[in-house]
Amino acid sequence: MLERAKRAARAVLEAWRRAASARNMRHGARHVTRAGLTADLARLGIAHGDSLFVHSSLKSLGYVEGGAAAVIRALQDAVGPHGTLLLPTYYLPGGTVRATCDMKDYVFDPRRHGTHMGRLPEAFLASAGVRRSIHPTHSVSAWGRHADALTEAHHRAPSIFGVDSPWQRFIGCEQAKVLGLGISMGPVTFYHALEDAMGDTFPMAVWEEKTELLACLDYAGRRWDVPVRPFDPAIAQRRIDQPGRGDLRDYFAREFDATGLRVNGQVGDAASWCIAAQAFYDHLGRLASEHVTIYASAAELAARPIGRA
Ligand SMILES: CC(C)(COP(=O)(O)OP(=O)(O)OC[C@H]1O[C@@H](n2cnc3c(N)ncnc32)[C@H](O)[C@@H]1OP(=O)(O)O)[C@@H](O)C(=O)NCCC(=O)NCCS
Repeated sequence: MLERAKRAARAVLEAWRRAASARNMRHGARHVTRAGLTADLARLGIAHGDSLFVHSSLKSLGYVEGGAAAVIRALQDAVGPHGTLLLPTYYLPGGTVRATCDMKDYVFDPRRHGTHMGRLPEAFLASAGVRRSIHPTHSVSAWGRHADALTEAHHRAPSIFGVDSPWQRFIGCEQAKVLGLGISMGPVTFYHALEDAMGDTFPMAVWEEKTELLACLDYAGRRWDVPVRPFDPAIAQRRIDQPGRGDLRDYFAREFDATGLRVNGQVGDAASWCIAAQAFYDHLGRLASEHVTIYASAAELAARPIGRA
């Protein structure tokens, strides 16, 4: 009873905080519209029929009239009726994979649990025609042509990002692209697809030894125990998305620019980028063979000139 009251109070406070924050944006930021965003996406090279994996920061776009839902409509307009959108709707109640594995009695329920990945994924979950994969830490959601194929049976994949995961299937889609809306090269899940696929041949051991089994419910309420191997916490500290690793974010941005693989442009007010998924994956593999990974030390980065042919 007390717990329910606390939850309700927290929800009211959060709604109030969000309203105040949106008001500030409305008064302080440039206003952008769905149509304006669609035009910007087209200038970035997003075309009808594309499949996009989208990482985003809503507030970096400027004040979007219609909020996150309007951004989703703009993305749908940009890829058209034969396109596909795939968004990270991960739910990590512990904050990290390790901490989530340590939560006793945690059972992921795709119908009940939201996402910790920001306002756009949150709005996407609530949009019509979106399918969500069943996974205790890295559930993804998709809309469009490949939505069923991408989200299906994630809970039966032997690992989070490997064979039969949405990432490996996504790489195989025609016109598949990773899109960063107002984000750096840091919070990009795609890197882990290569690590998972390379396994022991990846230059370093990024996972813990033991694979855990975490419980999920499917849409029929059946329970599944899903294999999850947490990241090694010590190695994760050195990763490209850590606040202190601006050197890695800068290296990867300049490397993908120098090779011509990254297309940069403005979407609304946000500095944004797009990289074809297969080329992204292949180039990460090449970098790994030259000891440049998203965990590389400053010395390892210095030893490999950016854009080496
Ligand atoms: C963490 C992260 C989500 C923060 O970005 P953000 O823009 O601050 O947060 P959101 O995208 O959730 O947008 C919320 C903000 O949009 C703003 N906002 C509200 N209404 C808005 C509107 N109509 N138009 C524009 N912005 C608006 C608010 O300032 C809000 O901030 P609040 O939380 O204080 O209310 C982002 O930096 C990031 O890392 N994104 C990638 C996440 C991801 O995919 N991770 C997986 C990789 S492993």
